[in-house]
Amino acid sequence: MIDFKKHIAQKINNATQIDEDVTKYIEIPPDSSMGDYAFPCFSLAKVMRKAPPVIAGELKEKIESDDIVTKIEVKGGYLNFYINKELLSKEVLNETIKNNEYGKSNIGNGKTILIDYSAPNIAKPFHIGHLRTTLIGNCLYKVYKYLGYNTVGINHLGDYGTQFGKMIEGYKLWGNEYDLEVDPINKMMDMYVRINNLCKEDEKVLEQARENFRLLEAGDPYCVDLWNKFKDLSLKEFYKIYDILDVDFDSLNGEAFYADKTDEVVEILDKRGVLTESEGATIVDLEDVGISTPCIIKKANGSTIYATRDLAAILYRARTYDFDKCLYVVAYEQNLHFKQIFEVAKYLVDEKYAKGLIHVSYGMVALPTGKMSTRLGNVVKIEDLINETIGKAKEIISEKNPDLENKDEVAKKVGLAAIIFNTLSTTANKDQIFDWNTALNFQGETGPYIQYTYVRTKSVLDKIDELPKPKDIDFSVLSDIHSENVLKLIYNFEDVLVQVTEKNEPAILARYLIDLAKAYSGFYNENKIIGEEKKVQDARILLTYCVNKVLETGAGLMGIKMPEKM
Ligand code: ARG
Repeated sequence: MIDFKKHIAQKINNATQIDEDVTKYIEIPPDSSMGDYAFPCFSLAKVMRKAPPVIAGELKEKIESDDIVTKIEVKGGYLNFYINKELLSKEVLNETIKNNEYGKSNIGNGKTILIDYSAPNIAKPFHIGHLRTTLIGNCLYKVYKYLGYNTVGINHLGDYGTQFGKMIEGYKLWGNEYDLEVDPINKMMDMYVRINNLCKEDEKVLEQARENFRLLEAGDPYCVDLWNKFKDLSLKEFYKIYDILDVDFDSLNGEAFYADKTDEVVEILDKRGVLTESEGATIVDLEDVGISTPCIIKKANGSTIYATRDLAAILYRARTYDFDKCLYVVAYEQNLHFKQIFEVAKYLVDEKYAKGLIHVSYGMVALPTGKMSTRLGNVVKIEDLINETIGKAKEIISEKNPDLENKDEVAKKVGLAAIIFNTLSTTANKDQIFDWNTALNFQGETGPYIQYTYVRTKSVLDKIDELPKPKDIDFSVLSDIHSENVLKLIYNFEDVLVQVTEKNEPAILARYLIDLAKAYSGFYNENKIIGEEKKVQDARILLTYCVNKVLETGAGLMGIKMPEKM
């Protein structure tokens, strides 16, 4: 496709004779009465020693319009460019139709991105707090992959720590009382609470738990087997959710995997001379870089901590994957943790890797109010949230479309779309509220609204036997403002995906899909499609087809699936 921005930038560059490529300064004005692209001349004011409006005026004289840029205007310090709309529609329709994977690119070729996401803790419920990391990570994974990056999804399971010594002791004492095959997580939780209380009362039991953990680390078969059992049971439960959400990972190397790799971390840091002692613990002091809490590497009793295993993971990942970026999709409560380990990592791995470490931090999820939160207590399990939402989706669908055939399947897609979209449309750094009325509103800024718009395009396309051929299309008939809005959005799809990766922010894609759905609704309400004069009908059908494709692809990258009817 023609790169309009580049084309305009080149014209400006030729006129100004400056070396710097000005593409990055070119903006898309908020409304099209100010042109399709705008160049703010403020950036040149310093170099050219002139006021921006003067520069704009001079540039306009030097830049000629052509068959790509049809008109150039000066507005204040801005130079506004109008592009050839017929060319835009021709480009967009041709490309979308011929390219089965529209928006796909190879800009990521040769680069490796690791995404550390989900990471629930073994023997604990998979609660609503882990939903955001799972969905944000999954979306970023898909988008990076679509842009050609070599992408590795890692589930850094919380499967290590002294609590497993206690769990083993609990199992030894009461294992026969629990049938762990049924509802294992709740039972393991129960067992843990029980043994934890006993440990507080009885020093001997605590001693035994510590011994179990020591044995587990030393590879004692009984303890290792039990630990594996806890882990397998938990994973089986987690995968129930992953399967519903269609999420998977390339690696399940969790904390335990790094337990025997922490010695080297200590060794390297020691050699670099950055280890000091504080109250018996081994630490790296980070006062100098403005972090007042030191990073603990070893506790006073000599054992390593969460941070030490994360450092071992950085070392391992650098060696194993030679990554360009390693993203950690983890809630903001761990901001300090990541600041600390990223600082310490500078002593551990090459600068190239240390620079590629990024914490994709996100806010909290507020509990849904009302019935569900009281029924379930404080910890809302993802499974319950999903089931409840699918149930509500089914009620709505049954009411709107009583004759719909596969209601269960549609309800599942709609319910999940409501959850996924609601989760991803909140800017990551904001806290999020989950409310069914909002998330399931077919006319709101929601996942179901995107599906609803998709279904609408589908029903238009179902009315025709064969898609018109782009070569027979008169592109000039798509010159009305509604068509233009849709065309411009479709044109920007790849750019939007690139922005998602630059900011590691799925909300950008969510916003885009809403804009596209709204623009199509505007087009659909104002323009008759079927039954128009043949050449108009054909062009509008093709545009509808493009919207259908981009909505499906875009939503698919978020993990949302489209129903055929709803
Ligand atoms: N298991 C941790 C938790 O639930 C998250 C782990 C995130 N990943 C990491 N490499 N630290 O809070």
